[in-house]
Parts: sequence; C-alpha cells; structure tokens
Amino acid sequence: MDPRSEVLLRQAELFDGSLLLAGLPSDDLLGRLPQARGWSWHAGDQARLDARFTGRSQFGVSPPAEAFSAAVLFLPKSRELTDYLLNALAARLPGGELFLVGEKRAGIERAAKQLQPFGQPRKLDSARHCQLWQVHVERAPAAPQLEQLAQHYELPLADGPLQVVTLPGVFSHGRLDRGTALLLEHLEQLPPGHLLDFGCGAGVLGAVLKRRYPASTVSMLDVDAFAVASSRLTLAANGLDAEVLSGDGIAAAPMGLSAILSNPPFHEGVHTHYQASEDLLRQAAVHLRPGGELRLVANSFLKYVPLIEANLGPCQTLADAKGFRIYRARRG
Ligand SMILES: C[S@@+](CC[C@H](N)C(=O)[O-])C[C@H]1O[C@@H](n2cnc3c(N)ncnc32)[C@H](O)[C@@H]1O
Repeated sequence: MDPRSEVLLRQAELFDGSLLLAGLPSDDLLGRLPQARGWSWHAGDQARLDARFTGRSQFGVSPPAEAFSAAVLFLPKSRELTDYLLNALAARLPGGELFLVGEKRAGIERAAKQLQPFGQPRKLDSARHCQLWQVHVERAPAAPQLEQLAQHYELPLADGPLQVVTLPGVFSHGRLDRGTALLLEHLEQLPPGHLLDFGCGAGVLGAVLKRRYPASTVSMLDVDAFAVASSRLTLAANGLDAEVLSGDGIAAAPMGLSAILSNPPFHEGVHTHYQASEDLLRQAAVHLRPGGELRLVANSFLKYVPLIEANLGPCQTLADAKGFRIYRARRG
C-alpha cells in the first residue's frame, strides 16, 4: 500500500461519501473505499486500476463528469499542475471538502498553502512521512480552462519556426530541454516509414519529425495525459498531423517501426525511475523492423550503451556535447 493511502485509511470515516480520488496510486485504495472513484492522468496507473476495479477510475485531463461531494488530491510534482488540479476540483465542490495528501519530501507542507484561496486549510494527520490536509470549500473558483494555462513558445529552427504548446506539469514546460535541443540537431538520415517519438512530452520531437519526413507516419507516445494533450496542441499549432497515443512504456508502441526517437524519462515524481527507459532499450528491437533504428539523447552519466548493445546491436555515439550524448543503434 502506498504510504499516502495508508494515511488516508487512518481517517477512513472521513471518506465514506461519494469521493473522488485524483491522481491516486494503483494500489488497493479503491478496494478499501468502496464508495470512491478515481481520476488518473497516468496511463500505467489507470491500466492497473482498470484491471482490478473495472470502470471505477477515469483517465484524462479533467475531472469526471459525475458529481462527488469530496475529493482527495494526491500531490503531483509540479506546482502549476497542483494549482490547476486543485482549482478544477474546488470548482466542483462549493461547500464540500477538498483534501490534499502527499509526502513531506514532495513538498506537501508548502503545497498546502495552495489550498488557502478556497478556505482555511487544516492539517489532519502526519504519518508515514506524509501529511493529510483538508479545506472546507467556502470560496469555490470558476472551473479553470486548461488551454488558457498553456505556455506557448517559438523555436527558431533551420527549416522554419516551430510553435510549441506546453501544459502544466509537462516536461520542459515553457522552454526547450537542452538534451532535446541536441537531438533536434541530429535527425538526419532516419530510415523512412513509421517513426515513433517515445515519451513525447509537449511533442517537439514528433512535430519536427513530421515536418522533416512528411511522407513517413509519425506516432507519439506518452504515459501522461497532460503530455498527450500538449502534443496534440503542438501539432495543431503547426498544422501537422500525427498519431498521439497514451500508454505506459514501449510495450504500448506500434510494431514495425522504422525508427524510435527519444529523450527518455529518468525522473518520475520525486523518485528516480529508469524502468521505462530500460524497458525501451531492452524492447526496442521487438518494435523495430529489420534495419530500423533507435536514436536517443541521454545525459552522459547514464550508462545506456551496454544495454543497447546487448539488446539491439553496435551503438554509435553521434554527438557528445554539454553533458549529453546522442546514441544510435540499428536492428540487424
Ligand atoms: C525527458 S521527457 C521528454 C519529453 C519530450 N520528448 C521532450 O524532449 O521534450 C520524457 C517523457 O517521457 C514520459 N514518460 C515517462 N514514463 C513513461 C512511460 N512509462 N511510458 C511513456 N512515456 C513515459 C514523460 O511523461 C515525459 O513526457
């Protein structure tokens, strides 16, 4: 059981009404709170919840349409995303109860101040390195419009400017990552056909790929519903057409790909997770057609080469600059 769920269950009497659990972990909490429903924006958590508690959790960037009389937000990493989520929940709860739970090292104490616009926050519990806060929603805000919270910036690329649209909580919100910038300089001579941007974030890479290789099919995949929504906005802002998929890990990607491009994830929440990236390196060959290519940018300190060579074939370093490397390997 996630420690945040354990903290909630210490106060289970507060949670027996129609409750929405927002950003919930994929543990047994829905089983322990039979009246509750979930809202997840993480495709992996959603798939696990759906497998165990069919139909009780909904995936997306907005709260489910059904009414609820209380909600718990599991604190996400980004302050801006927290702000959007709290406002989206409080807008649906005039006179209701809004709870916030999170780990101390994730900054729950500071995040609790973000409850103040709605009423007087109270700390209900502190245990398992987590805190649980509550606010009675006296001042319900208007429902926030997600697209109005998007940040727009223009990338001056050699083949013309690219408009990038990022939503709160999405990787490199409002600015281009340095690793991605290096990968954008090394997109030459990809085998044409079906290209995948794995972990697409705001969709910069996928959009540039579609522009450079217009005859190729481009798919973009991310585990985070806000990233998927950002990628769609980025494509639309540039008049480009590509497939955008939500899914957890390379297993959710199409088969028969001619190339997989990625600035792979290595942070998730407050914990560091290499799992999705390791799975990508181990399983890329399964998703690539013969002669297909994996091209990655990675921090120089990440030891990806042995894993690539063990699972795909000889790995070439195309560039090494400013703490990042571009790797390339082809399926034989
Ligand atoms: C380093 S960011 C790169 C984003 C974007 N491609 C760019 O270059 O700006 C990695 C992305 O991988 C996504 N991600 C993390 N775990 C994932 C998983 N298991 N499956 C698919 N995508 C994942 C994250 O949501 C994030 O958008």
